Amino acid sequence: EKMQIIITDSYEEMSMAAAKIAAGQIYFKPSSVLGLATGSTPLLMYKKLVEIYKNIDIDFSHIISFNLDEYIGLAQNNQQSYYYFMQENFFRHININIDNIHIPNGMAEDITKECADYDNMIKAAGGIDLQILGIGQNAHIGFNEPDIKFEATTHAVELDNDTIAANARFFADEKDVPRRAISMGIKTIMLAKKVVLLANGSNKAEAVYKAVCGKITPAAPASILQLHRDVMMIVDRKASALL
Ligand code: GLP
Repeated sequence: EKMQIIITDSYEEMSMAAAKIAAGQIYFKPSSVLGLATGSTPLLMYKKLVEIYKNIDIDFSHIISFNLDEYIGLAQNNQQSYYYFMQENFFRHININIDNIHIPNGMAEDITKECADYDNMIKAAGGIDLQILGIGQNAHIGFNEPDIKFEATTHAVELDNDTIAANARFFADEKDVPRRAISMGIKTIMLAKKVVLLANGSNKAEAVYKAVCGKITPAAPASILQLHRDVMMIVDRKASALL
């Protein structure tokens, strides 16, 4: 019941290790509830998972998925939306049932209701079996930014300037990056039966250090994972440099 840390030589190995865990989860429990992440980090994991799917025919048709977050103000067909990302990089390549996919709706008129509905759907599904996480350079998970307290449930967030700057690479201009997002809360993430956090690259080394060895504080949201009963950190050499 302690944090497992796997250090891989490369991004590719990190991705393969995570894809195998996800594939195993789906293989052994075809009705699994998956918590999914976006960002550059899990991209190759999704690709590897699609390869495994094609090779051994794992069945996604009963899988239920909940994504961690979405930008407020971006429609599903906006290429920078996380909905679009998931379709493009994962969902359209597998036999997942579109009715079983959940991503917060960044265009919802009533964001408070959208957040409450999202939590209710996760509860109704029985909670998350396997939660995949990336990590922000400021140790955020999902879009739970450094704060003075942990937000338990799905909520709207103001993005930090450094998060906006870090994510600007996906947009034509930094001013196009939405300032707000909807994020799953810390408690929902902590209630996942298993958590797998991925990190690669030297720009994540400090965040990984804080997640693994730092003080448990909402100032470094990933540090809460030290209290989780089944968490695995899969990090490449560069991201593990400060451990
Ligand atoms: C983004 C996402 C997170 C992600 C993180 C790292 O802002 N909301 O879910 O884990 O930042 O992103 P990347 O993997 O591109 O470095």
